[in-house]
Formats: sequence, structure tokens, C-alpha cells
Amino acid sequence: MPTPPSRYLQARAPLITDASARPWPSDLSVILRIMRILFVSDIFGKPGRTALMSRLPSLREELGADFVVANGENAASGAGITRNIAEKLLAAQVDVITTGNHIWRQKDILPFLRESDRIVRPANYLPANPGRGWTAVSSKDGRQLAVVNLSGNLYIGAPRGAFQVIDSVLAEIPAGIRHIVADMHAEATSEKVAMGLYLDGRVTAVIGTHTHVMTADEKVLPGGTAYITDAGMTGPHNSVIGVKKEIILQRFLTEMPVKFEVAEDDVWIEGVVIDAGDDGRATAIRRLQLEIG
Ligand SMILES: [Fe+2]
Ligand SMILES: [Fe+2]
Repeated sequence: MPTPPSRYLQARAPLITDASARPWPSDLSVILRIMRILFVSDIFGKPGRTALMSRLPSLREELGADFVVANGENAASGAGITRNIAEKLLAAQVDVITTGNHIWRQKDILPFLRESDRIVRPANYLPANPGRGWTAVSSKDGRQLAVVNLSGNLYIGAPRGAFQVIDSVLAEIPAGIRHIVADMHAEATSEKVAMGLYLDGRVTAVIGTHTHVMTADEKVLPGGTAYITDAGMTGPHNSVIGVKKEIILQRFLTEMPVKFEVAEDDVWIEGVVIDAGDDGRATAIRRLQLEIG
């Protein structure tokens, strides 16, 4: 199999090369032009979205984040996202909402997926499905970030293969946009690990979502791509991945259908913070776990 070309081979040199010609600014990040991206993992129900919306404006400032990307596929009672919730998350300083297998659960999101360039659904869904698989946003100081959403295929059933579509998706993103975050929404760790390796050197970060349990394998891959298999869950952790534990235990003990209810206690904001250079390569990825209560 031929190796796809690295996106960064043609990247221009960092701005630090001509810094000696001018007085050094007091803020070194101006020279290094570090881009910091906060990725917030699956927002689960009202506890998760309330915690994020109240905390995000100050958190964004504390972290000095240039962009905030958040997975919102469980934001409406654990099942999908509504237009109203999406608009509130965007108003609370989320720049782009990613989604996943629950995206079709709330019908009023369908027109919003068509209208808004701030929300994406997996790119390997069908081209005729509402919405888009990637988008690009700009910051006030002119920086650009592209966000790609993918779904795994194992145990989660996307209609097209993530590996079969991602090359053409990346080819659509203008070459001038060097920072790209891919949300790989998948059940199987093998698919997520493989996608990280496949995209190493071609995107800034591959962030795994969907399983709601944060993994401890965050790393910057050799080609400059930040990676984690699962970035966790923003929601109630006294639960089984967001749902009241008594209900899920009843389900496993009886094998009878149950009605899911969102848990309430032990709410955490979880995700990762990614730093990247001007060339789009990641320099660091750190896990964020913030207890809200
Ligand atoms: Fe999911
Ligand atoms: Fe999820």
C-alpha cells in the first residue's frame, strides 16, 4: 500500500526564524505561534451540558485555548442533540460540535445540520444525508482550524468505511489550513489506533470518542499527530457511561428492555488539550479531567 504524502512536508518554517530582527514580545507564544485546541469529550445530558456551558468561558480563558471542539452526540438526554442545545453550546464558546451514531435521534437537528457550518456529522455517512463531514472555522486573529468527523465501522455500523473515505475528505480541505482535528467516533479501540497511525503526519490530532471512558494512551505520534483512543465523557460519572447505574444493572441482570435515564451525580468535564506549532504538527496532548461535583 503506498504511503500517503505528509501534509506537512511543504509547511513553511515557523515564525521564530525571523524573530531576531525585532524586539522580543513579552508573550513568547506570539513568536512560537502555538495553537491550543481544547477538545471536550461526549457531553452527556443536562448535567454534562450545564456543567460545560457554565464553566467553558472561564476555562477557555484559563487554558488560553484558540479553539474549542466538543462532541455533542449525547447532549439531549443522552440521545442526540437538538437545535436549541446546539445553539446554546455554540453561544457558550464552543466553536465546532462533532457528533456520532446518535445524530439522527432528534429530528429538529436535521435542518440545523444543513444550515450551520459549526456542527458536523460523520463524513463516512452517506453523501445524501443531511449535514457535512468536515468544516473549517476562523479565530478572531485569523487562525483557521478544520474539524473532521468520522465514525468507526466495527460494532457501530457506519454506512461507508472510514478508511475508504478519509483520503478524499482531507483532499477537500484547502492546503492553506494546516490545523486539522479529526474526531474518530468508534467502539473498537483497534479502529481508533489504526486511524491515528493512518493519519499521522496528515492531521494535527485524531481524538477517539464514543466509549465515554478516558484512556491513558495520549501521545504525539512520530509524524506530529496528537492521539488518544478515548477522550472520556463530560457528564455524570456515578453512572454506567452516563446512564443511571441501577437501570443498566437491571438490564444486565434481567436481559429485559429498560428505559434509559440520565444519571445526575459526580459530574466531570473531560477532554484533551492539544498544542500545535504553526506548521500544524502537534507538540503536546494532555488529558483534562475537571470535577464539577
Ligand atoms: Fe456514540
Ligand atoms: Fe457518546
